[in-house]
Parts: sequence; C-alpha cells; structure tokens
Amino acid sequence: MRITVVGTGYVGLVSGVCYAKLGHDVMCVDKDPGKIRILNEGGVPIYEPGLRELIAEVRQAGSLSFGTDLPNAVRRSELIILAVGTPPLPNGEANLAYIDHAALEVAEAMNDRKIIAVKSTVPVGTNERLAGLMRSRSAVAFDSISLPEFLREGSAIHDTLHPDRIIIGADSEEAANKMLELHEPLTDRIIVTDIRSAEMIKYASNAFLATKISFINEIANICEKVGADVSQVAEGMGCDRRIGPSFLQAGIGYGGSCFPKDTNALIQIAGHVNYEFKLLRSVVEVNQDQRFSVIRKLNAIFGGELEGLNVAVWGLAFKPNTDDVRDTPALEIIGRLLDAGAKVRAYDPVALDNFRTLLGREGVTWCGDAMEAAQGTDALCLLTDWPEFAGVDLSRLQAAMARPVLIDGRNVFQEKELLGTGFVYYSVGRPSLNKGVKQPMPALQF
Ligand code: UDX
Repeated sequence: MRITVVGTGYVGLVSGVCYAKLGHDVMCVDKDPGKIRILNEGGVPIYEPGLRELIAEVRQAGSLSFGTDLPNAVRRSELIILAVGTPPLPNGEANLAYIDHAALEVAEAMNDRKIIAVKSTVPVGTNERLAGLMRSRSAVAFDSISLPEFLREGSAIHDTLHPDRIIIGADSEEAANKMLELHEPLTDRIIVTDIRSAEMIKYASNAFLATKISFINEIANICEKVGADVSQVAEGMGCDRRIGPSFLQAGIGYGGSCFPKDTNALIQIAGHVNYEFKLLRSVVEVNQDQRFSVIRKLNAIFGGELEGLNVAVWGLAFKPNTDDVRDTPALEIIGRLLDAGAKVRAYDPVALDNFRTLLGREGVTWCGDAMEAAQGTDALCLLTDWPEFAGVDLSRLQAAMARPVLIDGRNVFQEKELLGTGFVYYSVGRPSLNKGVKQPMPALQF
C-alpha cells in the first residue's frame, strides 16, 4: 500500500517506520524542514531505542522516505495517516489547530479517492468534524478512519509491531476491510468500531491506566501509615486476573506526553456535555500531590529545613528509556527544592539537555554520571527508574555522599541490599524498609 504519514513526532515516525517494515511504501512528511533534514541525513530527532537502526534498514530497502512536500505525497498515496501533535491548551483541552490545518492541506491536495486515518489523540467527534472541514475544501470522495495509537515511549517499536490490539473506527465497510488487511500481520485482535467509540477507547484506556497508578499510590500512602508493604500488596492484588499485575507500581506518579494531557482532556470532554468526571478529577489531583511526597519526606528527615541543603537528583525523564521530559515529575520536585533554597546536583543518562532547557533557571549543577551527582550531597532523590540506578554500588554511593540519605521515589532498592548499610532510606509505601528516620534529622548530626 502507498501510505503518507503526516507528522514525524513519536507516533508518526514510529508508525511510518513500522508500516515500511511490513513492506509498504511509506512517505513521512513534516512541515519542519529541520526535522526532515536530520532524518534524511540518517539522524533521529527523538531518543527511542532501536528506531535509528530500523529507519536505516527500511530506507535501504527503499520502502521509507522523508519530505516536506505534502501535496505530492498525498497524490501518490492511497492511505493518509494524520499523526500531528494535539498538545494541551492552558485549559486542558486538546489543541486541534495543527490537525485541522493538516486535514485541510490534505483535502486541497487530494486527486482521487483516499482513506484518511487519524492516529493523533483527538476528542470524540473530531474525525467527523475534520471530515466536514475537508469536504468544504474538496469535492474528492474519501473514507474516514479513527486509528488510535497505544505505543509507549521507550518500547514504541515493539508496541507497534506487537500490539495488544488494533482499534479501527470506520464509517465504511470497504475502508474498514482495507485497514483490517493492512493490520492483519500485526495481531489477530483487531476490533472494528464506529468512529466515536474508537476515539473514546483511546481516552478511556489512558484514563483507566492513570487511575490504576493513582489508586496504587494512594494505597502506598496508606501502607506507610498502617505498616503494610505496597509492593507485596500490589503483587497480591495483581494475581487476580480481573485486576492484573501491570500499572500497579507505586512511585511519584505518572508524567509524560499522554496521561496528564489525555486525563485532563477527557475531563474537559465530559464537561462539555455537562458531565463531571469526579473519579478522574481525583486521579489527577492524587497524581499531582504524589510528586511532592519526595519533598514531604525530605522535610520529615531534615526537620522542615531544606535551605542550603545539597540534594542529588537521579533521573529527570518522566520514565526510563526516553529523553522525554514533558510533564516529568522532576520538574516540579526540583522547582520546589530550589524554591526552598536547596542546591541541586542532577543527572540523567539521556534527558539532561532537554531538562535543562525545560527548567530554564539557575541553581542546578548538571552532572555527567550518577556518582558525580551524589558527590558531597546531604540527600539523594531517585526520580526515574533507569536500570543503571538499580545496579549501583551502595557502599560506594554512601562513601561519596556527605550524609547517606536516600529517597527512593520509584522503589528501586530492595531490603536485602540495604541491610547493613548506614543509609537513611525512604521509599514509597514500604515503611518496614525505612531506616534511620525515627526522629528528625537534627539528631543525626548536621
Ligand atoms: C502511555 C500509554 O501506556 C500508551 O498506551 C499511550 O499510547 C501513551 O501513554 P507512555 O506515556 O509512553 O505511554 O508511558 P507509560 O509507560 O505508560 O508510563 C506513563 C507514566 O506512568 C510514567 O511516568 C511511569 O513512570 C508511570 N507509571 C507507569 C507508574 O508510576 N507506575 C506504573 O505502574 C506504570
């Protein structure tokens, strides 16, 4: 199939490359000539394991190309996939200006019947509205498809080539059949729905996963007070097939480009039809508050006095295996530390430059490795569960720090590793592992 993908962000680029891997003839277009130049020179504008290699492979095979000429790409294609960003507006709603613009450009370029598939996450009803917009610009017939994307950053290629399910929201049987044929090599779990339901499946899925995370984080907070261990609780709960074990990892809450944006957007979508989504509002509130559990723990240890404290931060990306810092918990946590007068030494394996730009303020020493960041600090906050942190030599770490205080925001360390060390240790929802925190820090000799 000849396919054009509009937008070379995470979703567009990964989808385009994967369709090319399946043997289709794919052209990825973007308005940004800088991005296209990088891609044409063999580079990748985002960090995603395996993506560079796969792009090289399919380009070599001649099944993928990059360009800025949208009209030309549209004319040569049977399927046009819209995968441009729908970033949040200040009020939480999705900004649809880019996708509206892309749809109109496609409409103006259409020369014969096309399938227009929307992969961007868009509010319910958007596909129909876009179709109306396009009809106002073009007399050429087309079919609309809602094709929501469920890939996770860091495992985007695997998720696209081995999806749990494919959702095809269609308004015509013929187009639905073509999309079924396109996706059949990927999975036998393909569900064809009406367009509005497909749009809703994406929001409902992300909202449910976010709910699982906020739920387990609240259970963790209660565990801390009643003396239970949330990791054991989650394991026990997860054995029930109706609950399932995934997304029950307690921590400092979710971040990233999807969950915060999509939960807020769904609250707005409900609001527009006069429905108050109370449960989801609480999920968002709990998540916001959970970020500051790190600060609360530091305050408890240091008697509420963070001024002048040297604090190491390990992990700036919103999760491991990505350089994405969009809505990362680290931003607000470091902001609070700086506001309180602490000095911060920060390290992340790949997200440091992106984070530095995002933070845009002084007071942080940027470090090239984890031990350098820990050097001479009074406390270390682990905010992202990068695998390299789990493998760290704790006795070396203790020797490097001025005071061995470890706030583990992702429950990376286990009890047996901590045994016999002198760490003051706080994790999330595992009070039995807390060590040396019976009294405020002044007793620990400043
Ligand atoms: C998510 C969805 O998983 C994906 O299906 C959708 O298409 C886009 O949004 P992504 O944002 O890449 O993907 O990250 P994900 O791996 O889902 O993690 C999101 C956040 O939740 C991260 O900050 C992560 O640290 C946090 N998380 C995840 C937890 O705190 N606990 C968990 O148990 C799982």
